[in-house]
Amino acid sequence: MSKKLGFAALSAGMALTLAACGGEGAGGGGGGAGAGGSAAPEDLTIGVSMPTQTSERWIADGANVQEQLEGAGYTVDLQFANDDIPTQLQQIDSMITQGADILVIAAIDGTALAGQLETAASQNIPVVSYDRLIRDSENVDFYVTFDNFQVGVAQGNALLRGLGLQNEDGSAGTATGPFNIELFAGSLDDNNAFFFFNGAMSVLQPLIDDGTLVVKSGQTSIEQAAILRWQQETAQRRMEDLLTSTYNDGSRVDGVLSPYDGLSRGIITALTNAGYGPTLDAGNPMAVVTGQDAEIASVKLIQDGVQSSTIFKDTRLLAEQAVEAAAAFAEGGEPEANDTETYDNGVKVVPSYLLPVETVFADDIQSVLIDSGYWTADEVASGQAD
Ligand code: GAL
Repeated sequence: MSKKLGFAALSAGMALTLAACGGEGAGGGGGGAGAGGSAAPEDLTIGVSMPTQTSERWIADGANVQEQLEGAGYTVDLQFANDDIPTQLQQIDSMITQGADILVIAAIDGTALAGQLETAASQNIPVVSYDRLIRDSENVDFYVTFDNFQVGVAQGNALLRGLGLQNEDGSAGTATGPFNIELFAGSLDDNNAFFFFNGAMSVLQPLIDDGTLVVKSGQTSIEQAAILRWQQETAQRRMEDLLTSTYNDGSRVDGVLSPYDGLSRGIITALTNAGYGPTLDAGNPMAVVTGQDAEIASVKLIQDGVQSSTIFKDTRLLAEQAVEAAAAFAEGGEPEANDTETYDNGVKVVPSYLLPVETVFADDIQSVLIDSGYWTADEVASGQAD
């Protein structure tokens, strides 16, 4: 526990003594101690470190976490790190120096934070790993995320459904293939990238093995498929290279496994520039491209019949879980995990809370994204967040 939380932890035992002495709760300046070893939210600052503002997803995460924490009474120090590792390290250092009592961190490079977490631990500051697992450190106290393997499974199934190999209920579709596909993965320094890819391959590999799906480039390993820092432009370039190297013989790529909407848009740009589309039902149809995050620009592309699908992760619920975890630590307890087996960070298995995910095709936009208030109909129509 931080200094305030540390005092809180001591306070139960000291309360009588202090009361007997007629002393006031000298709570390290902030008076953070409450009854029963807890500190009041009003006395606590939570440092929230987010990776980047170049993606709507992370802007929304930052805003949701901040709003919900402030609503619960905490002071929030929210920082975005521009996808730059030294910036994130420096921001976390300064959160600690400025007295953060609890840290909530979505890492850029999940393997680069051990030093910062060591410092946090030495000051009894609980660390909540947000969405992305922080690796190679024993000082990760809790992990809030989605079921990342299921995200990959859902992406694999969405690719099959988009190709007509699978119906909505999971039964076999009318199409038979073979279909040419290409595989994209996320950033190798993000633990999630492996879960997404492995989940998707658990669905796709049997169909690659029986020849229904053909990865024509032969690039089937995650290292070959990975896109550093999840960059849209890098994905566009890789797709352009694949089209040049592999599809300049008159063949077409029918489907592309993409783990994130930003990459999907880069891939779609490359395909569009090469004469695919504009839509999935055009004469030379757009390839079936999957996605993740229900970013507004991609939701519009799905509505317009350009991108095939995305995986929706309700970041409002993730923010809620982060707030609950922080509250549990503030009260001197432990957050409640619903998974204590899956997320080994290389040093220990981190107790986790996993949230479910939903697949979104054009037909689901209204019921899943608009009715839930995640996006408005106007935002979907314009492709821009208000
Ligand atoms: C992952 C996250 C995805 C996506 C991606 C790129 O860690 O789980 O939802 O946002 O980063 O930002």
